[in-house]
Amino acid sequence: MRQTVLVTGSSGKLGRAVVSELVRRGHDVRGFDRVASPALVTTQVGDLGDRAALDRAMVGVDCLVHLAATPDDADFLTELLPNNLVGLYQVLEAARAAGVRRLVLASSGQVNWWQQMAGDLPVLEHQPVSPKSWYAATKMFLEAIGRSFSEVHGMSVLAVRIGWCPRPEQEAEFRDTPSAHDVYLSPGDAGRFFAHCVEAPETVRFLIVNATSRPVRETRLDLTVARQVLGFEPRDRWPEGM
Ligand SMILES: NC(=O)c1ccc[n+]([C@@H]2O[C@H](COP(=O)([O-])OP(=O)(O)OC[C@H]3O[C@@H](n4cnc5c(N)ncnc54)[C@H](O)[C@@H]3O)[C@@H](O)[C@H]2O)c1
Repeated sequence: MRQTVLVTGSSGKLGRAVVSELVRRGHDVRGFDRVASPALVTTQVGDLGDRAALDRAMVGVDCLVHLAATPDDADFLTELLPNNLVGLYQVLEAARAAGVRRLVLASSGQVNWWQQMAGDLPVLEHQPVSPKSWYAATKMFLEAIGRSFSEVHGMSVLAVRIGWCPRPEQEAEFRDTPSAHDVYLSPGDAGRFFAHCVEAPETVRFLIVNATSRPVRETRLDLTVARQVLGFEPRDRWPEGM
């Protein structure tokens, strides 16, 4: 069914992939980013800290895909706190006030980092978290408040633990890190994954789910939940789609 979907972070690496797949599937897609998203018909240019701008963007929205954030470790007080925590608060409260029914939130495989480093693989979503650092801790907070919004406000909430879809400045580091190739998420698979989340059955009330393409050597982030609950099957394997 065609839905009105607001994608925050729509100008970013993942945002552009998600927008293009949702548009391809016939959804009415809107963007929200502090940088204009040229591929979109309707883009609200604004900051996550601007509640009035978020309220305008949220009118008539069925599903929110929240990707906008500082996407890795950075100074906590000046980057992670305003973008990943205060921004999250503003986005979720605006969505709740507007009656948005489903939230698809960008979490990270870094939420359970130290288990991956210890080699206890694959990592399952229900295992105890072990955040890499402050950035991953903001994603733990995102998952936790997502669960609360599902229980308290009756919204359907999916938190996606994304593997690694390297941004241009990360490509050299990514190539030189063989273990990362097993958690690669190609832009094409990312678009399809998030589309599966948007289109998931109403019966999905709260879900934490890993998202990667096909591993090269071994499975680090288990995809059983993605397959069984969302019907997602990755098509690419690194370096496809890079
Ligand atoms: N790319 C990955 O491998 C990866 C892995 C795990 C999680 N994630 C998460 O996925 C999401 C998207 O990551 P990405 O790689 O596309 O990053 P990106 O930096 O390419 O895109 C993020 C977008 O969000 C926007 N943005 C950031 N702060 C904002 C603010 N305060 N107000 C408005 N817009 C703002 C930026 O302008 C940018 O367009 C993030 O939440 C990130 O933490 C990404």
